[in-house]
Amino acid sequence: MALYSETVMDHFRSPRNVGVIEDADGVGEVGNAVCGDIMKIYLKIEGDIVTDVKFETFGCGSAIASSSMATEMIKGKPLSQVLQLTNRAVTEALDGLPAHKLHCSVLAEEAIRAAVKDYYDRRHISYDPKDFPEGGHCESCHGE
Ligand code: FES
Repeated sequence: MALYSETVMDHFRSPRNVGVIEDADGVGEVGNAVCGDIMKIYLKIEGDIVTDVKFETFGCGSAIASSSMATEMIKGKPLSQVLQLTNRAVTEALDGLPAHKLHCSVLAEEAIRAAVKDYYDRRHISYDPKDFPEGGHCESCHGE
């Protein structure tokens, strides 16, 4: 079996939603201290809906594919659903990632969460701190 699924390769070769939103309503940037990769997510939010999303990822192919898939999964969605996006859901949508690459999808989940938190902070909207755990929950962050 190939190491990477066709879906991963597709999103790696032709990533969706790459770029910057200059007037973003929320921006989230996270990094993995072990591998040194960085992911930045920009959200445009109207009402409670993510109307546009872009990403910049300085990282491995799995991180790029994860960002691409994750941005597709949250576009047009209400924030309540966006906050429920897990790295597991992103990995499943990619038809799997090798075990030592799961941490790359965690970066996508955390970057999106950080961007939503930034939006809430900018607008002084109250939120449940449990939705934004400090330092995330990246048990599989072993890098390479
Ligand atoms: Fe660092 Fe994939 S995000 S190796």
